[in-house]
Amino acid sequence: MDIFITQEEINKQKKTAAKVRERFAKLGAVPKVFIQTYGCQQNEADSERLCGLALLCGYGRTDNAKDADLIIVNTCAIREHAELRTLSITGGYKKLKEQKPEMLIMLCGCMAQEEHIRKKLYSSYPYVDAVFGTDMNHRLPDIIWDSLHSEKRLSFVSDLLHNEFGVIAEETPVERLSKYKAWVSVMYGCDNYCTYCVVPYVRGRERSRNSDEIFREVQKLIREGYKDITLLGQNVNSYNGDYSFPGLMKRISSFDGDFRLRFMTSHPKDASRELIDVMASSDKIARHFHLPVQSGSNEVLRRMNRRYTREKYLETAFYIRERLPDAALTTDIICGFPGETEEQFEDTVSLVREVGFDMIYTFLYSSRPGTAAAEMDNQIPHGEKTKRFNRLSEIENEIAQKINESYIGNTIRVLSDGENGRSSQNKIVNFDKPYPDGEFVNVKITAAHPYALDGEVLI
Ligand code: SAH
Ligand code: SF4
Ligand code: F3S
Repeated sequence: MDIFITQEEINKQKKTAAKVRERFAKLGAVPKVFIQTYGCQQNEADSERLCGLALLCGYGRTDNAKDADLIIVNTCAIREHAELRTLSITGGYKKLKEQKPEMLIMLCGCMAQEEHIRKKLYSSYPYVDAVFGTDMNHRLPDIIWDSLHSEKRLSFVSDLLHNEFGVIAEETPVERLSKYKAWVSVMYGCDNYCTYCVVPYVRGRERSRNSDEIFREVQKLIREGYKDITLLGQNVNSYNGDYSFPGLMKRISSFDGDFRLRFMTSHPKDASRELIDVMASSDKIARHFHLPVQSGSNEVLRRMNRRYTREKYLETAFYIRERLPDAALTTDIICGFPGETEEQFEDTVSLVREVGFDMIYTFLYSSRPGTAAAEMDNQIPHGEKTKRFNRLSEIENEIAQKINESYIGNTIRVLSDGENGRSSQNKIVNFDKPYPDGEFVNVKITAAHPYALDGEVLI
């Protein structure tokens, strides 16, 4: 199956967008689109492309659902909590639709790929006009046109669950939220099938963009003055174009311009020395490595299907520390994976102490329908998961506080967001006075907290 959407198809969408635009112009209407995004950077990147297409259809952007003529909820399915919240917020749009019946409400993203969610939407959310899946985004103009001309509720979802590939659509317009930070997807989907994770089912198989397209996009961003560019993929190390992922990073870091290059996310089973060496070779590559460990117990890692051991993880982490001594190392951890014993959880605690992470994103295990772990015995009670979560958070707070204190007195380069900014390590730095956003500025660090630094802006 051809995963690349043809230029013809993209042109067809652009034609439909022109038709939608004309329709609104004839009515003398200036419609507005509101896009609500949940989940990871992949979804944020997708929303920026959805917004680009909506603008091509003649919509203006609004940040207020009340002013919208089109609401698009771009959803995340990673944990049940995220889904419940999304459904409850979508429920709140019922009132808006009653006041403005011609308004369109659409739900897309990872939840749209789940059959049980589609059933629920169909039976209990009659005011949702259209649902579309993660490989339908480029068809937004058709979806809008059809929804405007149909009394029926529409569903555009392909069967990623059963091994259809998912697609790559180049050259759709993009409306970026930031003028200086940009996401660049290098690959889509995931083939790793970690047993707890829904992503392979809702995002389809791994597929990589052409490296030339990536270089073109990054060069354009640099020309436009973007200063912080993040290459995105569920497992960037599996990038499989004309370049390897380290090769891609090396090439981009050789581009002229004052920018920082980041990437998200790297899987520990494939995070190579070569990648770490490339990072060390260029000061354009941000000093931040996010390397999700999930657990410190070999038995739990095995049952998670992570395909690395605690020892292998530590080896990579120590190599990062050795080659990139000024880099921040962050991770993801799941508390209460089915069958996780107290002892196995203590293995995670000891790994956390051994590595000394700058930051940990800790999650309570959430059972996802259709995944292998959902069928495992010994699901851990909520109270126990929370206990482990709290214990880990306390320990990490101390570690992060200590690491951050080591910055006090140093002067570091920060990309300003106005009142605060981000260091190369991706640490939040609070300023003593505002500084124009999108500019780099030197800041002298005066105080440390577990999740932020305070500093004096040096002008
Ligand atoms: N591709 C990325 C992860 C994306 S999901 C990677 O492999 O690193 C982000 C994080 O959500 C994961 O690292 C994991 O810690 C967490 N997560 C995923 N599924 C989960 C589940 N069912 N319950 C709790 N946390 C989960
Ligand atoms: Fe999920 Fe694992 Fe793929 Fe990450 S690598 S998206 S955790 S299946
Ligand atoms: Fe969520 Fe989908 Fe990302 S499930 S974490 S939005 S890939």
